[in-house]
Amino acid sequence: MSALTELYQEIANCRACELVKYRTKVVPGEGPEDADLLFIGEAPGWHEDQQGRPFVGPAGAFLDQLLVSIGLSREQVYIANVIKCRPPQNRDPLPAETQACRKWLDRQIEIIHPRMIITLGRYSLARYFPDENIGKIHGKARKVGDIIYYPMYHPAAALHQGSLRRIIEADMLQIPRVLVQGERIAEAVESQQLSLF
Ligand code: URA
Repeated sequence: MSALTELYQEIANCRACELVKYRTKVVPGEGPEDADLLFIGEAPGWHEDQQGRPFVGPAGAFLDQLLVSIGLSREQVYIANVIKCRPPQNRDPLPAETQACRKWLDRQIEIIHPRMIITLGRYSLARYFPDENIGKIHGKARKVGDIIYYPMYHPAAALHQGSLRRIIEADMLQIPRVLVQGERIAEAVESQQLSLF
């Protein structure tokens, strides 16, 4: 059994917070174990909770289109959420729920070891850069260790606020270039010239 499949079984048995009472299906995430790109959303919504799969509702349809715009399909990337169970009425996750769920995403990242983590929305950004503002740093990559972090607005934001659509599309289109730059930076870091971009 693959490391991710084993992890999914553990996540399915998780009873570490109150959300277990409300969920229909747990939504661990999906994608190849060797994915280069890892997209991280907030928490499952109604559609995801029904199907046990991430980003399968309207925001997911937009995410699929964004992936196509850079020549990728969702089968080629890993898609996960900070929280694995749907909060009732789609309310924001509580700090205790976030804390209880933290280890699952950490273990996914350890197994997948992506080249790039794309945070989708404020909530996912806060998991890595709690003091940053998405309005200021969306579309700006930074490298920490050997992983490039790339914050984007949440695809659902474009559904509520049409003006963000073009910004999200433009940020997505930069990803291939950022990946290539990330490799160059990695070489520069090895020769101790640069650590961030
Ligand atoms: N929004 C998210 O943040 N995650 C999903 O899986 C679906 C919608």
